[in-house]
Order: sequence, then structure tokens, then C-alpha cells
Amino acid sequence: NRISLMRSMPFVARASSNSDGDFKVVSIPTKPVEGQKTGTSGLRKKVKVFQEENYLANWIQALFNSLSPEEYKNCALVLGGDGRYFNIEAAQIIIKIAAGNGVGKILVGRDGIMSTPAVSAVIRKREAKGGFIMSASHNPGGPENDWGIKFNYSSGQPAPEYITDKIYENTLSISEIKMANIPDTNLSQLGPVEYGSFTVEVIDPVSDYVELMENIFDFNLIKTLFSRSDFRFIFDAMHAVTGAYAKPIFVDKLGADVGCILNGVPLQDFGQNHPDPNLTYAKDLVDIMFAENAPDVGAASDGDGDRNMILGKHFFVTPSDSVAMIAANAQEAIPYFQNGPKGLARSMPTSGALDRVAEKLNLPFFEVPTGWKYFGNLMDAGKLSICGEESFGTGSDHIREKDGIWAVLAWLSIIAYRNKDKKEGEKLVSVSDVAKEHWESYGRNFFSRYDYEECEFEGANNMLKHLRDSISKSTPGEQYGSHILQFADDFSYTDPVDGCVVTNQGIRFVFTDGSRIIFRLSGTGSAGATVRMYIEQLEPDVSKHDLDAQTALKPLIDLALSISKMKEFTGRETPTVIT
Ligand code: G6P
Ligand code: ZN
Repeated sequence: NRISLMRSMPFVARASSNSDGDFKVVSIPTKPVEGQKTGTSGLRKKVKVFQEENYLANWIQALFNSLSPEEYKNCALVLGGDGRYFNIEAAQIIIKIAAGNGVGKILVGRDGIMSTPAVSAVIRKREAKGGFIMSASHNPGGPENDWGIKFNYSSGQPAPEYITDKIYENTLSISEIKMANIPDTNLSQLGPVEYGSFTVEVIDPVSDYVELMENIFDFNLIKTLFSRSDFRFIFDAMHAVTGAYAKPIFVDKLGADVGCILNGVPLQDFGQNHPDPNLTYAKDLVDIMFAENAPDVGAASDGDGDRNMILGKHFFVTPSDSVAMIAANAQEAIPYFQNGPKGLARSMPTSGALDRVAEKLNLPFFEVPTGWKYFGNLMDAGKLSICGEESFGTGSDHIREKDGIWAVLAWLSIIAYRNKDKKEGEKLVSVSDVAKEHWESYGRNFFSRYDYEECEFEGANNMLKHLRDSISKSTPGEQYGSHILQFADDFSYTDPVDGCVVTNQGIRFVFTDGSRIIFRLSGTGSAGATVRMYIEQLEPDVSKHDLDAQTALKPLIDLALSISKMKEFTGRETPTVIT
């Protein structure tokens, strides 16, 4: 594999530097290429597209053209990625263009590896002006698959829209790439290499992040749990970036058995899987956790390490519940929250389980559009500590990205705390016990999401048009099956910190009993249109909490399919993924 090949390459520094150690900047003429529209998740395309001449170089140069000099000249920037195919080549290009534009220092993860949350953490800790993340998140990797690049700001948060818009604008008029005439960096060799005014330093991608985790969680508490003979944990790194973090954290620091890590070697093609931790794509883990002799806690993370999935023995914690349960238990189980969280927030389609926790704990609560970026302002303003999305993202204000390993450590802390006085042999409080207890006190928000991937744009857009038309004709009090409509709208959000308004964030039918039906188009798909349908129903009756979510939600799902005329518009009989 490429990573070990790189390790054995000879180490060459200063090969083309001048006698004073400085380097020449070469101006490479270029022309705009189409299709470099950038979102806040960066630019995502097939690898083959990025391999076209100057495709990546144009975008990187356009980025520097969009920043003001004080945002990068003589400053430090971080560079890391999820280990996917093309990262190594891309890293060399990025380093040379950074040097060519007058960046002072690039801190790059060894072998180009650094998880998205770790990049956010390193930017903050080392007071860098920003960082590049080479990843297409949970999308497949390899020569035939996806690649992506994203730029984060000095707070550790993805660059705001006005910057990504500017990058796109600049890609349309670009004529020159400034590239430093320096040799390829040996990415396997830790330490700095200096070229006059420019330094590239290869850093351990794990240590800063581990230190942060040690400051947030009580590692001794988790260690005690792991030392029990009656507790078993399993982590599926899905051959993605958390493979680099799992052993140092779970095994070396916390004492878990090395066998607890599944698919722990980062591979350029993620072992030809979708590195997406959900019930469909994390099949290895799901099979283990639902087998007879299942471990007590199972978890997985995605390509770049920001998503998470939590499982108990024969039990799936839906992400909407996960954030609510972490929030409810944070103060007692996690030292970072010992004074209580400052506020809680979720994305609009995420279930209302978290709302009930905020209400009970009397905490400020925010409902934001889909997209982690909306949490950042609230965190910077000191209004938000714990947040999550139904899309397997959970995190806190320790960084400005969602954080897969953080979520796993949060759950391990909760289980460890609940069992800290349990003698060996005494029955342990399990993940499902914690969940059921939570439902008993707050009610259970049954939740499910149906994804219809790679639909025709026309059909998907027509369906949304039809739904917009329906909400404009709807009236509160109307009967929908057994539910009474409270309101129907297309979600819009006014940022309470900067007053920015975003509209058309998803069509929702909200009923008086707390049930909701929501439709939106995914903003992250790489082919065709992905329609998402979210179904939620609050069940206060404890005797019904053991129902399977699909069974409990069946009438509401049927209602949603008929309101939207899903089949008529998309031609789809069934969804491609159900979570
Ligand atoms: C990324 C973003 C999340 C978002 C998710 C799903 O992971 O960081 O904030 O919730 O994608 O977005 P989508 O538009 O595909 O539903
Ligand atoms: Zn991701």
C-alpha cells in the first residue's frame, strides 16, 4: 500500500533550494476550468477530475487569491487528510503552492493523515490561521471514486460561504499559479524542513488530539471500565482515518484489547467500502453487535473521522437520541462539562429528543439548518456546548467540527460512570438500559430517515415544488391521517449571533402531537439528487417504547409517502438507505 511505500522513500531536503536556503517561485500560466463551485464542505469530485492538469492547483491558487495577505503570509497552515487515494500527490501540490504564495509554515500530518476533528483541534491549539482537509468524508475512495478538499479558518471551522463563493469566483478568472520550486516533502519523516522563509513540518497527527481528549474526559474512569472482564468494546475504523487514532487512544491510553479494533488500517480505497458508519455500510460491525455473543459497546466512524455510530448489545442508538443522551449525562460523566453545558443545539431534521433535555435542564436551545457550520457561531458566542445531527454527527465546542471519537468517548464515559461502583460479576448498566431509562423520563422520539439516492434532478425538484405548493395551501388544524397539523413551512433560520438569514432549508409538516414529516434534498451527494425524508413521532407511553422504529412509524411513513407522491415523482418504490 501507498502509505508504507512512502515510508521507505529516501529523505530529500533542500534539493533545489539556493545557498541561503531560500527557493524560487515559478509562475505557471493556467486557464479556468469548469465546475469548481465550492460549498462549505469544500470541493468534491471524482479523483479523475482532480487529476486533470492544474485542476487542484487552480483551486488552491484561487483560494489564496480569495484570502487577504494577513490570513496566510508568513502564517502557519495545517494540512491533513483521511488517507484516501490521491492525498499524497495532492499534499505535495498544496505544499508547493502554499510556499509559492508566501505561507510561512505548513504543519502536515505524517503520511498526509489527519482526521477532520484533529485538523480542527491542531489549528486551534497551534494558533494556525487555517488548514486544508483532503477528504470526501464518507464517500468511497480509490482511483475510480471521490476526492475532496476543504479549507478551515483559524477557529478550526470550515471557511464561511462568502469565502467559498469568492474562491469559486476566482476559479473563473484564474491565469497564474504560483508554485515554489522545492522538492517533494518526505511525509513519513517527522520534523521540520526549512527552505529559507518557508518551513514544512511533518507532525504526529494523533498527539495533539489525544491530549485534547485527555483534557475533556476522565481517562481513568474509562480505563477502569475497560479493565473489567465482563465488559467488551469494539470499534470499526472502516479502513479510514480513525484507524490511525483508535490504537493510540483505545488500546495504548485506555487499555482496551488490541483485538477490539476492526478494519483498523487506513487504506486508500477504504477496503472498497463506503466509509460511512450507518446500519447499511458498517455491516461488519452491525453483524457483530447483533450476534448472540455481542460486545457491550460497538462504535464506528467515517472516512475522515467526524461521524459516529453507537451501538449497544443488540441495540442501535439513533444519532438523534445519542446527542440527547450525551447531553443528559454530560455533567456527571464528563469532566469538561462539570459546570453543566452552556446550551444545546440540533439541526432541524434531527429529532426533538434533545429539545426535551434542554427544557428539563433549563438550557438555551437552538434549532439550526442542516450543516455543522451553523453551530460554530453559537459556540464562539459561548451559547452552545453540545450539539448533534441525525446524520451521525455529534460534538461539542472543544473544536469546530463534529467529532467521531469524541462521541465514542462520551458514550464510554457514560457507561463507565454508570458502572463505576459495580462489582465484578454484578450486572452492568448497558447502552440499552441508559437509552430506555432516558425514554422513560423524556418519552421516546421514534425517528427514521429514508434516503432516495441518485434520483433524476427533474423528478426530485418537481416533488419539492409539489410539496411547496402543498404547504402554501395547508392550514393549521387540518387532519392528516390521525394527526392534526400545527403548521407546515419551508424552514428558514436567522442566526442569533450575526443575524444572517438562510431560507429553503427543508419542508416540514409539524403536527400538534409532536410528530413531524420533513423533506429536503441532500447537499452532499456526488451523483444525481438525493431525496431525504425524515419521520419522527413522540411516544410518551413507556409500554410502546420497545417497538421497532419502522413498526411504530409505519402509519406516518405511509402518510409522508402519499403527501409527497414520492413514487410518482422519483419513480422509486423503496429508499436506497434507511436509518
Ligand atoms: C455533512 C455535514 C453535516 C450534514 C451532513 C448531511 O456531514 O457536515 O452537517 O448534516 O453532511 O448533509 P446532507 O445535506 O447530505 O443531508
Ligand atoms: Zn465525514
